[in-house]
Amino acid sequence: MAGIVSAIQDRRSVRTFKDQPLTPEDRAYVQNVIGDIQAPFGVPVEFRLLDVATYGLKSPVVVNAHEYVAAKVKRVQGAELSLGFAFETFCLRAAERGIGTVMLAASLARKAFEEAMEVGAGEVMPVASPVGYPAAKMSLREGMMRKALKSDERMPFSQIFFKDSFGTPLSPSDASDLEEPLQMLRLAPSATNKQPWRAVVDGDTVHFYEERSIKESALGDIQKVDMGIALSHFWLTAQEQGLKDRFLTCSPSIAVPQNTEYITSFEVAR
Ligand SMILES: Cc1cc2nc3c(=O)[nH]c(=O)nc-3n(C[C@H](O)[C@H](O)[C@H](O)COP(=O)(O)O)c2cc1C
Repeated sequence: MAGIVSAIQDRRSVRTFKDQPLTPEDRAYVQNVIGDIQAPFGVPVEFRLLDVATYGLKSPVVVNAHEYVAAKVKRVQGAELSLGFAFETFCLRAAERGIGTVMLAASLARKAFEEAMEVGAGEVMPVASPVGYPAAKMSLREGMMRKALKSDERMPFSQIFFKDSFGTPLSPSDASDLEEPLQMLRLAPSATNKQPWRAVVDGDTVHFYEERSIKESALGDIQKVDMGIALSHFWLTAQEQGLKDRFLTCSPSIAVPQNTEYITSFEVAR
């Protein structure tokens, strides 16, 4: 295993695959990973590995998918956060094994996926992802999408991370041992690459916020899935680095910019 930091640095969304199903060993690996993931926000996430031919699964942006992984949750407080965290943990574990993924919220023939997942009343399936081996060359469409979404770019560190208040940008060197987890958070994937995450470092506590730019839909707040993804990058890196920690919800007395919502905090135990 290459480790989580390398997996985060090397991962990209994959939409063009080799025309080849997963090997039995890799299928077993995927089943194990999705069976083992614990989401930290108290909302269980149910994953399934789905065969394209059996369920008639389709995405207009994906070439050569043989299987998808999809996940559903109950529509309760913290559902999207938990799902984003768990799904991205799966995507990173897949990347470590050379298996490509891309989370898809909009680019899905949704009905077939929801039927395959048996999504009931009171449940939601925000995203699904193909699983397979990345093709050597991406499709023209995928290349154009990446350019349009600026998928290889992320906002600068000091524009999204702050010290004590939203008025003071945080420099990487000021972040000390929180720098690496924050750098890895910064690389997270997000819906249309909007990067809604913001963080304010206050001593040994990091407060996380969502800057909302996509309206809520029938799927709920898709940017809360992005927040769960970001928190997984932060937490998995902190774990790998040996930082002792916990997530907690508090009421930081920090003035918050427009369209920005407090999500959770992370406290480092020294
Ligand atoms: C919650 C979520 C939903 C997404 N939905 C779609 C989608 O419907 N169609 C698509 O082609 N890509 C989708 N993406 C992929 C993003 O466009 C991609 O992550 C972003 O452009 C950054 O590129 P990267 O993942 O290669 O770093 C989604 C990503 C996330 C996190």
